[in-house]
Amino acid sequence: MSDSECSDLWIRTPVIPELREGDIQIWRLDLDGPEGRNLLAQAFEALTAEERQRAGKMRTGTAPEEFIAGRGSLRRLLSASLNCDPQGIGIVTGIHRKPILRPVCGIQVPHFNVSHSRGMVLIALSRLGPIGVDVEYMDPSIETVDVARAAFHPEDVRCIETASTAKSRMLAFYGCWTRREAVAKADGRGLTLPASEFYSGTANKSEQMVKMCQENTIGFSGSSFSHYFVRSFDISPCHLGAVAVARSCKKPVLLDFSSALSKSGQHKLLLANIGINTDK
Ligand SMILES: CC(C)(COP(=O)(O)OP(=O)(O)OC[C@H]1O[C@@H](n2cnc3c(N)ncnc32)[C@H](O)[C@@H]1OP(=O)(O)O)[C@@H](O)C(=O)NCCC(=O)NCCS
Repeated sequence: MSDSECSDLWIRTPVIPELREGDIQIWRLDLDGPEGRNLLAQAFEALTAEERQRAGKMRTGTAPEEFIAGRGSLRRLLSASLNCDPQGIGIVTGIHRKPILRPVCGIQVPHFNVSHSRGMVLIALSRLGPIGVDVEYMDPSIETVDVARAAFHPEDVRCIETASTAKSRMLAFYGCWTRREAVAKADGRGLTLPASEFYSGTANKSEQMVKMCQENTIGFSGSSFSHYFVRSFDISPCHLGAVAVARSCKKPVLLDFSSALSKSGQHKLLLANIGINTDK
């Protein structure tokens, strides 16, 4: 998929749209794009002191930038949704260290998930229940079939093996990878889930249902299943994404997080202190 075809899918909006019941919003932040430095500086403003410290302890390179962009922009989006100060949002770690919102009495707080890969950050928001999102950079040098045999369900391996060209094999592989990870992140167990637990079905990009055993249950009997609805989407010519939610829903809205969404930051000095240069 070309750059312009990908751009057509993603909506640029000057305001953060309301997150209604039944909506799934997926926000894209391209840190290597023309707005990357602005987005980073704006996101840094929204971090808590503890998060700034955490970023400061990360090795320089893409890791701290992606954490800052993801967490800070998440705070901005949640602050619009909950109508409060970005730094006042209570983000805590739940089971398996999945970041979640601290429950607020009498308020239905949104579910969210973040993913990053090689300069691309995704934030998924929904009120439909637990959500997982994944973005992967598609590395053309990867031995797709070998990796799939080692890590994927046999049904997924078959889908990759039967692809007719190298390009379709790579798309099937990353389609499968991102779907698996989106489901695993919605569930929260992440990569601790055994490959045999579920298969992701990469045959097409429409919504598919994935069944998996709930935690602490053995075997595949009646009520022990969790269900996730998973869907793939294009992000850039070299990044692919997937989202999984606990309830079937309409198509996700794909939104570009532009620097026009928020005020510009004054934190160049602080970012420089932790090894990040905000000047192009
Ligand atoms: C979640 C997991 C799949 C992340 O995989 P990844 O490919 O490295 O990273 P991604 O970019 O897709 O996602 C990272 C984001 O997922 C979120 N996340 C962390 N743990 C998560 C979990 N258990 N479930 C869902 N999301 C999780 C975080 O927001 C994190 O970003 P941040 O640290 O910048 O806030 C991986 O860490 C995992 O399998 N965790 C399983 C649980 C586990 O092992 N916990 C550790 C116990 S000490």
